[in-house]
Amino acid sequence: MIEIKNVSESYVDGIKVIDNMNITMDDGIVFGFIGPNGAGKTTTIEMITGVLGMDEGDILIDGKSIKKDPIEAKKQFGFVPDTPDVFEKLTGLEYLNFVGDVYEVSADKRLEIVEKLAKEFNIYNHLKDRIQSYSHGMKQKLLIISVLMHNPKNWILDEPMTGLDPKASYTLKQLMKEHSEQGNTVFFSTHVLEVAEKICDKIAVIDKGKIIFVGTVEELKEKSKNNTSLEESFLKIIEE
Ligand SMILES: Nc1ncnc2c1ncn2[C@@H]1O[C@H](COP(=O)(O)OP(=O)(O)OP(=O)(O)O)[C@@H](O)[C@H]1O
Ligand SMILES: [Mg+2]
Repeated sequence: MIEIKNVSESYVDGIKVIDNMNITMDDGIVFGFIGPNGAGKTTTIEMITGVLGMDEGDILIDGKSIKKDPIEAKKQFGFVPDTPDVFEKLTGLEYLNFVGDVYEVSADKRLEIVEKLAKEFNIYNHLKDRIQSYSHGMKQKLLIISVLMHNPKNWILDEPMTGLDPKASYTLKQLMKEHSEQGNTVFFSTHVLEVAEKICDKIAVIDKGKIIFVGTVEELKEKSKNNTSLEESFLKIIEE
C-alpha cells in the first residue's frame, strides 16, 4: 500500500511541480499513472522512492514514512527507474548477486528467481557478459529482474515498457498482474494508454503537478462522456 499525503514540491524557481498531491494505492491493485510530458510523474515516483525530498507532506509505504523512516520504507518496495543505469563493468550475474547481497536474498531463492526470469526475459545466455555490451532493453530487463529478486510487496516502475520488445513487455504485464493478484501493490507510469486500459485496476491522471482524476478507466470514460476509448477520454480531460 502506498499513501501520498498532501505532498508538494518545487524545484529551484519556486514553481510547484507537485501541488498538494493525495493518492492512496491499496493492496491488490495495479495502479497506473498517466499524464503529459513534464506533468510530474517521474518527480512523484522519485519522491515515493526517496530519490528526491519533498517540501511538504509525507509518503507512506506499507505504513512506513519515506521521510521519517527511510530505510524501513525502502525495504517495502522495488523500484525500476525510467533509465536503466547499472554498473557497466559488472557482468549481469555479478550485478544480480550484488543486489541479492544487499537485500540478503538466499542463494537458493536467488538462483530460482534469476533462472526463471532471465529465461522468461531471454537474457539468460548473456548473464556472463559485461553489462556494457547490453542493449537498452537488455539493461532494462536486468534491472527488472534485480528489483523482483527480493520479492518486494510494492513495485514502483517508471515507464517500464519503454524499450522492451513485445514478448518482454507481455511478460512484464503478466508479472505485474500476478503480483497484484497476490495482494500486492503495483504502481507504474506509462504513456501507453492501451496498457493502462488493459491492466490497471485504477489510474491517476496528473497534469501540471496536479492530480485531475483518480478512479477506474471506466469512471474516466464516464466522466469525460466518452464510452469508446481511454485515449479520447484522456485527451478530453487534459484539454479541460
Ligand atoms: N532537476 C530538475 N530541475 C528543475 N526542474 C525539473 C527537474 N526535473 C524535472 N523538472 C521539471 O519538473 C516538471 C515535472 O517533470 P517530470 O520529469 O516529473 O515529468 P514527467 O511527468 O515524468 O514527464 P515525462 O512524461 O516526460 O517523463 C517538469 O516541468 C520538469 O521540467
Ligand atoms: Mg518521466
